[in-house]
Amino acid sequence: MKFEKEINRRKTFAIISHPDAGKTTLTEKLLLFGGAIQTAGAVKSNKIKKHATSDFMEIERQRGISVATSVMTFEYEGFLINLLDTPGHKDFAEDTYRTLTAVDSVILVIDSVNGVEDQTRRLMEVCRMRDTPVIVFVNKMDRDGKNRFDLLEEVENELQLSLHPMTWPINSGKDFKGVYNLDNKSLRLFAASTKGEDEEDTVAIEDLNDAVLDAKVGDRDANQLREDVELIDGVYGELNKADYLSGKVAPVFFGSAVNNFGVQEMLDTFIKIAPVPRSRETTKRTLSVGEDKFSGFIFKIHANLDPKHRDRIAFLRVCSGKFERNKYFHHVRLDKDVRFSNPYSFLARSKEVVEDAFPGDVVGLFDTGNFKIGDTLTEGEDFYFTGIPTFSPEIFKELVNKDPMKTKQLEKGISQLTDEGVAQLFTQFGGNKKIIGCVGDLQFEVIQYRLLHEYSAACEFRTLPFYKACWLTSNDQKKLEDFLRFKQQNSAADKDGNPVYLAQSEWFLNTEISNNPDIQFHFTNEVQ
Ligand code: G4P
Repeated sequence: MKFEKEINRRKTFAIISHPDAGKTTLTEKLLLFGGAIQTAGAVKSNKIKKHATSDFMEIERQRGISVATSVMTFEYEGFLINLLDTPGHKDFAEDTYRTLTAVDSVILVIDSVNGVEDQTRRLMEVCRMRDTPVIVFVNKMDRDGKNRFDLLEEVENELQLSLHPMTWPINSGKDFKGVYNLDNKSLRLFAASTKGEDEEDTVAIEDLNDAVLDAKVGDRDANQLREDVELIDGVYGELNKADYLSGKVAPVFFGSAVNNFGVQEMLDTFIKIAPVPRSRETTKRTLSVGEDKFSGFIFKIHANLDPKHRDRIAFLRVCSGKFERNKYFHHVRLDKDVRFSNPYSFLARSKEVVEDAFPGDVVGLFDTGNFKIGDTLTEGEDFYFTGIPTFSPEIFKELVNKDPMKTKQLEKGISQLTDEGVAQLFTQFGGNKKIIGCVGDLQFEVIQYRLLHEYSAACEFRTLPFYKACWLTSNDQKKLEDFLRFKQQNSAADKDGNPVYLAQSEWFLNTEISNNPDIQFHFTNEVQ
């Protein structure tokens, strides 16, 4: 393999969590370990502030700042780690889903007090679609959380994920005494600290019956730990790395991000077991990560909100070969050769022009409207990467043109905004109504604002009573056409002309599914 050394030292991952579970705090601690930032607070300042949730301009402004931290690259123990940021705000969930197509593994943060929350569930569904390997970090052990066995059971049941504890906590809240590392059999005592972990707080305990354990944590807790560990050993045994890599089993760590406790154990294990970039499926063949020729895909597009500069940054994930500055690559969808004179890499907090990039890396490309999500660049071959899905929106509104003189601008604007992935566009069969679908309400404000300021097109929205879009396929073309004609009010074409059924409610949807066995209803659609 030509680029074996580069590939084998890269680990590309994302941290996912329900808002407030501690993603930003954990990110910051990881960057501190990697030496990518010197002070705590550097990442935090880029987080979308809670009080800004109703002010989309403020959120967009902050998102603008966060472009620089979209990918945080740092080195640790000889590995080059690309940490892809995912917006925590639920209205930007689609952005997060797409980012998950560009990572090789994830760390899932769970709040020990709140357990599995809404966003956690949905994010895990996306991970499961790709069998993404997951490491779980149970955070906020310094707070009175759920019983740890109950919590593990809740996570296993709700997320349909088998867990494998790697560390085990001694109590929680104000009685939290530390974690026992089941792998290297050492006890790390909890000391609330925002600095690094202290070697002196670690005690090797080969034999749990050793009295040193009682001396360190007291008889009661020592006995409880002995009991817990016996139970865990009996149930879980050794971690099977292959099961982790195939997304079946998730190693679990307990800790407290804000106290930088339990983070290093997790990072050290991550380095050992997390996958390096792997081969990927394309519409034509399996693409081996080790191939000499370059290939990559666009998973995210970030617009410049300044109306004077309608340029955007397209985020490219390198999948094989070597990306090079100023070299011509093949844009598969447009069937033309393109080159980039100022591609960016993202080293925490600063953007830097890069000369080259390898599988696992993410490069930021200036774009004037040539890219849409899912676009593929190669050295000439025609294929698309599969597994970059579009998800059903949750809010649907009709787009109403308020200025007939600006119809063209409106159409161009909405076409470009939907290419960026801000929203999805459906055109109703028959009526030709333009329907915009989004995950969050905020996007409608964003669209209205951007259409006006960037394209001089005025629009308003009329709420529609749909709750889900399902993509339809069938081996029986006639049946599909009949269905679409019969259900005209609920039928539309997506931007690429694929037929979609817009359901008013779960009941309607289930009824149609059972009444039409020859038609398949899909809840996601591949981008290409
Ligand atoms: P997010 O990115 O997942 O949304 O979460 P974030 O890291 O911002 O953390 C959310 C809140 O939880 C923050 O408090 C943070 O300090 C706190 N937190 C993170 N890890 C721990 C932990 O291990 N223990 C405890 N007790 N709290 C933790 P905040 O009050 O919202 O913000 P701040 O004022 O502390 O910045």
